[in-house]
Amino acid sequence: MKKQAVQRLLSLAPYQPGRPIDEVKRELGLRSVIKLASNESPFGPSPRVLKAIEKAALDVNRYPDGGCFYLRQEVSKQLSVKAGQLVFGNGSDELIILALRSFVNPGDEILVSDPSFMVYSIGGKAVGAKVRVVPMKDFHHDLKALAAAVTENTKIIFLDNPGNPAGTYITDQALRDFLTKIPSRVVVFLDEAYYEYACLQKDYPCSLSWISQYPNVIVARTFSKIYALAGLRVGYAIASEEVADILNRVREPFNVNSLAQAAAVAALKDQAYYRKRAKDFKEQRQWLADECVKLGVRIIPGVTNFVLIDLQGAASPVAQELLKKGVIVRDMTAWGLKNFIRVTIGTDAENQRFVKTFKTVLKK
Ligand SMILES: Cc1ncc(COP(=O)(O)O)c(C=O)c1O
Repeated sequence: MKKQAVQRLLSLAPYQPGRPIDEVKRELGLRSVIKLASNESPFGPSPRVLKAIEKAALDVNRYPDGGCFYLRQEVSKQLSVKAGQLVFGNGSDELIILALRSFVNPGDEILVSDPSFMVYSIGGKAVGAKVRVVPMKDFHHDLKALAAAVTENTKIIFLDNPGNPAGTYITDQALRDFLTKIPSRVVVFLDEAYYEYACLQKDYPCSLSWISQYPNVIVARTFSKIYALAGLRVGYAIASEEVADILNRVREPFNVNSLAQAAAVAALKDQAYYRKRAKDFKEQRQWLADECVKLGVRIIPGVTNFVLIDLQGAASPVAQELLKKGVIVRDMTAWGLKNFIRVTIGTDAENQRFVKTFKTVLKK
C-alpha cells in the first residue's frame, strides 16, 4: 500500500458509534433509557411493513435482487421518474460514497457547509478529496459563498436540505438561483434525507422536476427517517439516466438486502400512515421547541424530526447529566458546536420526559 494513502486514511477521525441502550442501562444502573440522539423514528414501521419483512425473512437463504426490481417499479411510479434514473443504496450514506467514488479523484475538491452531515467530509477525505468548508450563515447554507467557492477543481457540492444538524432548509427560489450559478460539470448532491418532514413547507423545492434541466443534480432520499427503517439500511438517488448509470456501475451487486427491499416497497404503499406521522412530528417538534424556549434556551427553527438547541453555555456537561438520568441526546461538541445539543423528536411520552429532565438539569 502506498504510504501516503495509508497516512491519509489514518488521519480520518473514525465514526464513533453510540453504545447500545441496554449497555447504558447496565452501566448507569437505570431501568429506563430513551434515545433521542440519532434522528431515528421512535415508532416501529407500519404493521403492513412488518408483515412484508416477516414474509421476506423466509427467503433470506437467497441473494437479494441486485436490481431492486419491485422497489424500482414502485419508486418510479410514485415519483413519476424513469426506472433508469434510480440508484438504490445501503442507506443514503452509500449514495454519498458512490457519488464520491464516481466523480472525485485524489486532489479534486468537494464543497461542504459547516456544520453539515459529516459523511460528506469523511467520505471525501477517504477518496483523497480536498474538502473545502464554507461556514453556514446563521445556520443556513450560504449559497452565495458556496457558488463563489467553486474552482476548476471542484467536483461535487454537497447540500443537505434540510441540513443536519441545523434543521433549516433552502427554499425553492434560492435553490433555483443557486443552480443557475453552478457550472454543469460540477455535481450538486442534494441530500433530502428529511424530505418527508420538510415537504410540508410550501416553499420547499420540488428538486426532482429540475433534473432534466440540470443533469448535474443528484437527489438522495432515505427510508431511515419517516419510514422508520434505519436498521435495514435502504436509500435511493434520483438522477439523470447517464449519472444513474455511472453510480450503478460502481456499486456492489447486492448492496440492498432483501428484507430492506420488501419493507421499502410495503412502506411506499402505506403512504397514508406515514403522512399522518409527518404531521404528528411537526406538532411535537413545535411543542418541544416551545417548551425549550420557556426554559430560556435558544432554538434553531428547523423543519426536521430533530431540534438544535443553543444552551449558551457548555453542552457536554448538560448532555452528560441528561444521560445519567436516562435521556440520550447528541452533544454537538464534535461538530464544533460546543454550546449545542441536538434532540430527536420522540414519542409524546419521550418528549415530555426530555423536557422534564432538561428542566431539572438546567436548574442545576
Ligand atoms: C443529512 C443526512 N443525510 C443522510 C443520512 C444517512 O441516512 P441513511 O440512514 O439513509 O444512510 C442522514 C442520517 O442521519 C442525514 O442526517
